[in-house]
Amino acid sequence: MNTSNIVVRFFLLFSLIGIVSAQLSATFYAKTCPNALSTIKTEVVSAVNNDRRMGASLLRLHFHDCFGCDASVLLDDTSSFTGEKTAGPNANSLRGFDVIDTIKSKVESLCPGVVSCADILTVAARDSVVALGGASWTVPLGRRDSTTASLSSANSDLPGSHTIGQARCVTFRRRIYNDTNIDSSFATSLQANCPSTGGDSTLSPLDTTTPNTFDNAYFKNLQSKKGLLHSDQELFNGGSTDSQVNAYSTNPAAFKTDFANAMVKMGNLSPLTGSKFPFTIMDTTLFSMNKPTTLKIRFFLFLCFFIGIVSSQLSSDFYSTTCPNALSTIKSGVDSAVSNEARMGASLLRLHFHDCFGCDASVLLNDTSSFTGEQSAGPNVNSIRGFGVIDSIKSELESLCPGVVSCADILAVAARDSVVALGGQSWTVQLGRRDSTTASFSGANSDLPGFSFSLQQLIDAFSKKDFTTEEMVTLSGGHTIGQASCSTFRTRIYNDTNIDSSFATSLQANCPSVGGDRNLAPLDTSPTTFDNAYFQDLQSQKGLLHSDQELFNGGSTDSQVNGYVSNPSSFQTDFANAMVKMGNLSPLTGSSGEIRTNCWKTN
Ligand code: HEM
Repeated sequence: MNTSNIVVRFFLLFSLIGIVSAQLSATFYAKTCPNALSTIKTEVVSAVNNDRRMGASLLRLHFHDCFGCDASVLLDDTSSFTGEKTAGPNANSLRGFDVIDTIKSKVESLCPGVVSCADILTVAARDSVVALGGASWTVPLGRRDSTTASLSSANSDLPGSHTIGQARCVTFRRRIYNDTNIDSSFATSLQANCPSTGGDSTLSPLDTTTPNTFDNAYFKNLQSKKGLLHSDQELFNGGSTDSQVNAYSTNPAAFKTDFANAMVKMGNLSPLTGSKFPFTIMDTTLFSMNKPTTLKIRFFLFLCFFIGIVSSQLSSDFYSTTCPNALSTIKSGVDSAVSNEARMGASLLRLHFHDCFGCDASVLLNDTSSFTGEQSAGPNVNSIRGFGVIDSIKSELESLCPGVVSCADILAVAARDSVVALGGQSWTVQLGRRDSTTASFSGANSDLPGFSFSLQQLIDAFSKKDFTTEEMVTLSGGHTIGQASCSTFRTRIYNDTNIDSSFATSLQANCPSVGGDRNLAPLDTSPTTFDNAYFQDLQSQKGLLHSDQELFNGGSTDSQVNGYVSNPSSFQTDFANAMVKMGNLSPLTGSSGEIRTNCWKTN
């Protein structure tokens, strides 16, 4: 198999993962089993109180289930398949099945047939980490359970992993007798309990200093060549990952946050959702490959898991110690701007959207002698607004906590607060973006969708940024607030045929065929309320922009528009989730970029 094939399959695989993970949602059981999460948590906390190691065991159980989180790991062998429990990485080693069974039976008596074992595993892993002092994360839910299991893929897919828990002598014997990158007294002390033959099941802590605490001791141990497993020490062995180990040793909070984010990503790896197996294509793609290629892909997946750890450094409590009033300051600034002028809410939402597709506050930068910024790009010129509001929020924050809160984060929070101020559903904004030191005029021109786009062009523009068609439709619902200028809908009201004729005529009064380019018209019938009227308008051919009406024009997205009309709260929830995704698009984090002092210029 050649490299391009591998790359194509890899992208196919990841786009499918993207589609499926988009079907998970944090509120999946909110109506059907509202006490599911609290029931799982209570049982996990009690199990961990009884036996601290159980926290590690539940985390590992989820990990071994994942790379397809579908509870296949829990299935006993049957006459038609040999399950995963006897696979090398699992046999005599996985534990926690009883805890999961108890949770399942409690949840079944609360809401029979509703909560999957795969979701229980995922939530139990999170609650275990929290019970041992780690950071929490929101678990997207809605996985379904597999109807089979694979001994062979459990054998071939699972890598070794370890700040909590224990490992058996058989897994680290070769390391303590043969490896050279090991602290010699550490090796000797382990040999006492793990002879060169026999004693295979004797346990030793994976993180020799604090095996029952979710902390960064694992990384500190690696620095002193005290990784228990060969695979652990590989992460700090003069290679490219040494710097990350060093960073986690000095910054434990960064490790906790990154771990939480990476766990969300792992929990979303190829779950079963909806009513059938959506992954036949992926499975055949993966498993029809010859062995070396399969290994390459699996290695790549594992690598991506670690890349994920490095890249996703955003967290919702990023400013909780460095600028505790950051969020309330932004909210007051937004609330006051929106109560002065309701449209400002729409403008701030749009400003964040136009910044995103790389949320780094580049949209706020004025032109300089070294670059032409984004403000004069086609989709922005004479159109995006709200800079004054962002600048005044920024100056308040600079006096509260100088040099701490990025302009990109202000934009992301202001967009959320704007939607809320106009009656929409809230969401948790992940924070920690940094500001760019440059801007791209050409990127803004080429990446942002145009008002004359066809459905296919809209789908393509959003899919370039990893959004599904469904998410594109959802996000277009941002047009439930705000205004557009005549120049953006002129062609539609004079030329389009899929437009209500009296609607077109009434708009023509204020948008002549020549002139009046800047005259405004509302994007939907209730432009200062974040509701589902935008979708209702589309049903009656009253979409203002050509691109709006494309979403309801006899094509594949009509059904979603209908769904949002009949179920307004599903639009609100989907919108909130899609905004979180948008806000996380390729932010600058860590030491990239800067925290600007003024949002309109680099420091
Ligand atoms: C689907 C592709 C999209 C296209 C083609 C598009 C295009 C436009 C255009 C042409 C305007 C009017 C600009 C003007 O005349 O000044 C506008 C306004 C607006 N857009 Fe979009 N947009 C899209 C997606 C989005 C998304 C994803 C959001 C947010 C989630 C959004 C939020 C807004 C808002 C709130 C306004 C009103 C701004 C104001 O009143 O100041 N748009 N959009």
